[in-house]
Amino acid sequence: MIRFVLTTMILAGWVASNVQAQVLTKDVESKIENILSQLTLEEKVALCHAQSKFSTPGVPRLGIPEIWMSDGPHGIRAEINWDNWGYAGWTNDSITAFPALTCLAATFNPELSHQYGVAVGEEARYRKKDVLLGPGVNIYRTPLNGRNFEYMGEDPHLASILVVPYIKGVQQNGVAACVKHYVLNNQELWRGHINVEVSDRALYEIYLPAFKAAVEEGGVWSVMGAYNQYKGQHCCHNELLLNKILKEDWGFDGVVITDWGGAHDTREAALFGLDMEMGTGTDGLTVSAKNAYDYYYLATPFLKMLKSGEIDEAVVDDKARRILRLMFRTNMNPNRPMGRMNNPEHQQVARAVAGEGIVLLKNGQAFFPIDPDKKLTIAVIGENATRPTTPGGGSSELKPKYEISPLEGLRQRFKNANIIHAMGYASGPSVYGQVAPSPLNADSLLRAAVEVASKADVVLFFGGLNKNHRQDCEGGDREGLGLPFGQDKLLEELYKVNDNIGVVLISGNAVAMPWLPKVKGLMQAWYLGSESGHALADIISGDVNPSGKLPFSFPAKLSDNAAHHFGTLSYPGDSINQYYKEDILVGYRWHDTKEIKPLFAFGHGLSYTSFELSGIKTDKQVYTAGESITLTCNVSNTGDADGAEVVQVYIGKRNSKVDRAVKELKGFRKVWVEKGGAAAVKVSIGVDQLAFYDESIPGWNLEKGEYKVFVGNASDNITQEASITIK
Ligand code: BGC
Repeated sequence: MIRFVLTTMILAGWVASNVQAQVLTKDVESKIENILSQLTLEEKVALCHAQSKFSTPGVPRLGIPEIWMSDGPHGIRAEINWDNWGYAGWTNDSITAFPALTCLAATFNPELSHQYGVAVGEEARYRKKDVLLGPGVNIYRTPLNGRNFEYMGEDPHLASILVVPYIKGVQQNGVAACVKHYVLNNQELWRGHINVEVSDRALYEIYLPAFKAAVEEGGVWSVMGAYNQYKGQHCCHNELLLNKILKEDWGFDGVVITDWGGAHDTREAALFGLDMEMGTGTDGLTVSAKNAYDYYYLATPFLKMLKSGEIDEAVVDDKARRILRLMFRTNMNPNRPMGRMNNPEHQQVARAVAGEGIVLLKNGQAFFPIDPDKKLTIAVIGENATRPTTPGGGSSELKPKYEISPLEGLRQRFKNANIIHAMGYASGPSVYGQVAPSPLNADSLLRAAVEVASKADVVLFFGGLNKNHRQDCEGGDREGLGLPFGQDKLLEELYKVNDNIGVVLISGNAVAMPWLPKVKGLMQAWYLGSESGHALADIISGDVNPSGKLPFSFPAKLSDNAAHHFGTLSYPGDSINQYYKEDILVGYRWHDTKEIKPLFAFGHGLSYTSFELSGIKTDKQVYTAGESITLTCNVSNTGDADGAEVVQVYIGKRNSKVDRAVKELKGFRKVWVEKGGAAAVKVSIGVDQLAFYDESIPGWNLEKGEYKVFVGNASDNITQEASITIK
């Protein structure tokens, strides 16, 4: 007894006093083993499941801390109650809301992604969070997916390049990123059970790469499993996805966390790769069985199976080891920085990401920018001109210290203008899973807006979706591609009295635009966070020249999207299974290959200046495996404003032994060029990136022969094609 107490005290003392000396070295692994040898079976099991909505217990007798987590990914969520989903009502948890990840993807700027990660990580750290539940990199497969706004678009290369610096930025704060939702959670409808049938090739080429980059290049410390099933097993305990691909093939040494309520079976959870169970007994959003933590699959039932010998102790040891490793990287790392709360630098990062992510889709008669010095009457119309867009959307909702609305941002910047405003349309109030109709009268709102528009020199319409249920929100998909709440009709009516209209779409998804020919200017403005109105005013006034590019295609109609082209078994499935019949032809790969013109193409985005790409060449003609293709070109700014352009390099293989997309993004570089100036750009592409996933091996196959290189500033605007050969 005395010896036991002594050992315990020594160990507790060791945890406390040696904490300063612990850095992540090889040494840590032996410390982990040391701790492990002191843990009882009960204590090991306790590490593997929640003790509250967002925390897991430590080992109090040894001074091993609890792990605290927070959503993610656009800022640190407000404090939630211990046992239920209610907000705790703290007054010191207001944060910086950063733009949604679709906006980050649209910047095509990895440096900004790093700044974003650092800033959001600092706020997580300051709020005493050890794990930030994000970023999300599920691929944009259908514009109806309610959560696309939380992800990084339709292209695996773009998402891979942008996710890595975000993760590194977060983790340099001693806060673990948790990349989610691994994998194939590409719709919200039936997300808890739908079984995804997808070819190995599409899995490896389209859906896995961003997760792989997060692990192998980002060194992410935790991964969240998805709700859905793959090969008839839930992704949170999936032998192939977790044990084989993630842990064995990619060498992931961190913690697999369930999505909230994503575990369904003790044996599977124990054996098929899950390390930590959260949120069981809820659908992740609503009801909760109080204090049910002992009944978690990885709690008492797990302990029983360990005690009876049905499951080997090595199984829980592996989980505890991973969890302790996460702690040494986060809350047991004495060298981690202290973090910083919402501050002007974070707000500046939010504004910069928003400014670089806004995409100018159309600019007839140079509608934008609008001169802030002119004495114009500007009619600002639409609910999204004033509606906060940081609340709502599900788990990513935020409580920012402030949110500048578009109307407020314009009022601050356009001091000489006479800004008149009308709501135009109204959505209903939303609670999870339900939207009540608006109490406001739609006709009166429309008439008032038409009246306002008729008096103005310029009409700016702020519409789109709004993070209500089924309007870009977790837990449900959209019901169609069209704009809700009568916005199409409203735009038609506004046009009848004033044809000088610009539209700003606030959404995380593509929408149908029957009114497109009638509006002069159009911007895609995402959900921009705290600095929304400032960033929009920056772009609308021309203080900032737009340089965002679409991270996904806008189809002209829903059936032009590949997933929808194949009918309901492809999307949304029959409620049990769904079949990814478009296979690898997701997004622009489909539009290009099938020659279906999108409304706006992947990579498209205009500027207030014009650019010319010239002198495009590769360093060699013939390459072999393992080499790098270096592509160089000049970007000249031939217009009247300084600005940034994104050089996009796509590569395609003709005469392949398998069906291929015409072209795929393999490299890009954003470059800033002053007006009248030019910049030399270099893009390096590993030859091995040209391999396809060959199911007959199975493995990656770098086909020899000729490849076509396409260089341009959008997937549908290629300046030059070249040929290279792989020997
Ligand atoms: C979501 C996750 C989120 C978790 C915790 C789930 O419903 O799918 O993305 O991190 O809840 O809020």
